[in-house]
Amino acid sequence: KILILDFGSQYTQLIARRIRETNVYCEVHPCDASRRFIEEFAPIGIILSGGPASVAEDETPRAPQIIFELGIPTLGICYGMQTMAAQLGGSVENAKTREFGYAEVATKVQSSLLRDIHDRTDEKGEGILDVWMSHGDTVNVLPPKFQVMLGNAATPIAGMADEERKFYGIQFHPEVTHTLQGKAILERFVHEICGAGYDWNMPDYMEESIGRIRSEVGRDEVILGLSGGVDSSVAAALIHRAIGKQLTCVFVDNGLLRLGEAQQVMDTFSRNLGVKVIHIDAGKAFLDQLQGVADPETKRRIIGREFIEIFQREAAKIANARWLAQGTIYPDVIESAGGKTKKAQTIKSHHNVGGLPDTLHLKLLEPLRELFKDEVRELGLALGLPHDMVFRHPFPGPGLGVRILGEVRHEYAELLRRADAIFTEELRISGWYEKTSQAFAVFLPVKSVGVMGDGRTYDYVVALRAVHTEDFMTAHWAELPYTLLAKISNRIVNEVRGINRVVYDISGKPPATIEWE
Ligand code: XMP
Repeated sequence: KILILDFGSQYTQLIARRIRETNVYCEVHPCDASRRFIEEFAPIGIILSGGPASVAEDETPRAPQIIFELGIPTLGICYGMQTMAAQLGGSVENAKTREFGYAEVATKVQSSLLRDIHDRTDEKGEGILDVWMSHGDTVNVLPPKFQVMLGNAATPIAGMADEERKFYGIQFHPEVTHTLQGKAILERFVHEICGAGYDWNMPDYMEESIGRIRSEVGRDEVILGLSGGVDSSVAAALIHRAIGKQLTCVFVDNGLLRLGEAQQVMDTFSRNLGVKVIHIDAGKAFLDQLQGVADPETKRRIIGREFIEIFQREAAKIANARWLAQGTIYPDVIESAGGKTKKAQTIKSHHNVGGLPDTLHLKLLEPLRELFKDEVRELGLALGLPHDMVFRHPFPGPGLGVRILGEVRHEYAELLRRADAIFTEELRISGWYEKTSQAFAVFLPVKSVGVMGDGRTYDYVVALRAVHTEDFMTAHWAELPYTLLAKISNRIVNEVRGINRVVYDISGKPPATIEWE
């Protein structure tokens, strides 16, 4: 396996995903990992990530010195290359020309890392790579035994290699797709230079994971809060495959789900897969609690608290339960472990099932904690979950509770559900569902005047939101075709009595957020 030491770059997780895409297992750990940890991890190769600090300043992170003594191939990326250079006797300075975005770099000496990898050749026959750079510092003095592998006018040392020790540094980011040969370079590093096999694949992982769950759980009972989202669904299907009836799922219907969602969850799990699911129809309890409450954060808290109460009450009824299963996935694990700077301000408190208090005294079973979202989806398909469930857009924990602006009422939820279902249906038919990252309708509790037939109407407004995003931190509104928007608007106004106006949200994030509350 490959060890990725994280210096805090926003792309570190991408490095891990690219490596796993080449069928090699890797893990991300903080850059100050201990000697003992590294020895026990026994990596066959190490990658040092980029990071926001400056090697040219004191007191900034360095790689554990031991990694340079273990005789393991090591690749430093951006900050990782700079700290490698500094720690091995070279030096780093603030660059005269900073490079952000596309750059061309030319091959200086052939190396086993980059041999025959280039986008084109120049008139001298040198290989040219189109790469993506993001740096203000640069290596200005090579460490002893290193050669310049790549360079350009702005960054004469854009790549360095010590072939004997198999140490490589590259200033650009191979993990981002803008670097066209990036994947080939990472693949070369892990397979040829580190000698990794192609042994990370989903069918094998699934079998191993099933075996692990069986031996860990033994004859104990396991409970799991099933939400219908991708992660808890895949976790449920996997654990059920491993231990069958020892798994009990608790599905809390908070009355704020999408149209037909509860039915769909019950059909998929209970009817088709034979999973034991306790369906709690708690819509009324949630609505009662939410009565008269308009503030978004208060609504979130109430919905979160109510969920926990109901879930605990049900869980306590399963007398022999020893385990609480959760759909925690790898990005959640890395963020909580990585010592990363937390966002300074809470824009929204995102509660998940993950926040259950420890009063149940259950052991945690988290079979997806090594997997990225794409891998979770692949596993879901391998387990036979329906495609639409595995590829569905994310849906917030508080559900329609934050898509009905202000006070939540049953009547509003009914209108919104139907409008949202029409929107989703039309997106699916037109192929736009898969082309957007998240799309939904929002209920605005304001009335406006309309005319239908010969009569005046005075009804509510629905806003449609569809966005493209990589990571949900920033987002662009989707340029849905006017003809599609027209069709959706027509259908909503004609089919959902109580709504007479449909608007389309054309705000990006920032400054708006994806949800309206
Ligand atoms: P925003 O609205 O902050 O949303 O741009 C970013 C992503 O987070 C989801 N979201 C939530 N998820 N509980 C959740 O589990 C919440 O309270 C919550 N609020 C927003 C949102 O759907 C989007 O995918």
